[in-house]
Amino acid sequence: MDFKKAKLGILGGGAMGEAIIRGILKARVFSPQQLTVSDISAEKLKGLKATHKIKTCSDNKKLVSDSSIIIIAVKPQVLPAVIKECTAASDKTRLFISIAAGVRTDTLCELLSGRGRIIRAMPNTAARVLESATALCSGPGATDADLNAAQKIFNALGKTVLVDEKLMDAVTGLSGSGPAYVFLFLEALIDAGVKVGLTRAVASALASQTIFGAAKLVTETLESATKLKEQVTSPGGTTISGLHVLEKGGFKGLVMDAVEAATQRSKELGK
Ligand SMILES: NC(=O)c1ccc[n+]([C@@H]2O[C@H](COP(=O)([O-])OP(=O)(O)OC[C@H]3O[C@@H](n4cnc5c(N)ncnc54)[C@H](OP(=O)(O)O)[C@@H]3O)[C@@H](O)[C@H]2O)c1
Repeated sequence: MDFKKAKLGILGGGAMGEAIIRGILKARVFSPQQLTVSDISAEKLKGLKATHKIKTCSDNKKLVSDSSIIIIAVKPQVLPAVIKECTAASDKTRLFISIAAGVRTDTLCELLSGRGRIIRAMPNTAARVLESATALCSGPGATDADLNAAQKIFNALGKTVLVDEKLMDAVTGLSGSGPAYVFLFLEALIDAGVKVGLTRAVASALASQTIFGAAKLVTETLESATKLKEQVTSPGGTTISGLHVLEKGGFKGLVMDAVEAATQRSKELGK
């Protein structure tokens, strides 16, 4: 796919829509002149135009007819109405990339009456700081070149993996919901720091940098989490005392149950 000639349309300029705009402009995947965003709110469009110097459009159907790649970034509840509105303006020359949680590609294909090639992506909220963990899968009509193009777009927002669509509920349970689990863990670490005598500000700075640094160690050294944990757990030391309490409380089992429950919920919502 020739990105220089492509025109990218984004349906929905909310939190994720704007994160996508910011990421692809920063990584120079597309120029501002190649980008148009549509939204129901004129005020939001005004803000997006002023901030990112991109084109805006209040007509979803026109956005689709003017774009070669369309990212669907509206909420799942309004998605059927939005897509139906655009069907007449579409055809198979257009690639749709949906980030709507729980909406399967066969459902999208049906809503589009087969008039478009489809890819599904599941980013997470860290797209706002260009550190998303995004999984992508192919849907009806999508080619390898389409998947490469979608991966190039989402690589601008963080890291990407390719999966089969049947694994998208698992992705939702792990990396889609994952930031919330980490925020809960972070909150617990901060409260714990306060309990052992640190000010909230100091506890907060130390706890968030600890999580950030630990994640960076795993991604940069490519060492397993188990090995890195063992490296900092000296015999009879402080860390093993803390780990013992977490293990006794079933920490790992609880996290595994949480991911499984979120995966199950994603399956239910997708029905
Ligand atoms: N946020 C996340 O962390 C995350 C992660 C993965 C996937 N997703 C998916 O990303 C999608 C967008 O989520 P979000 O958090 O960015 O939601 P959001 O902030 O509510 O953005 C959606 C935008 O679409 C607008 N909109 C509503 N109806 C519309 C219509 N008929 N035509 C055009 N625009 C319309 C909304 O305007 P109003 O606000 O005025 O209604 C809003 O600006 C969802 O499908 C969600 O499942 C989100």
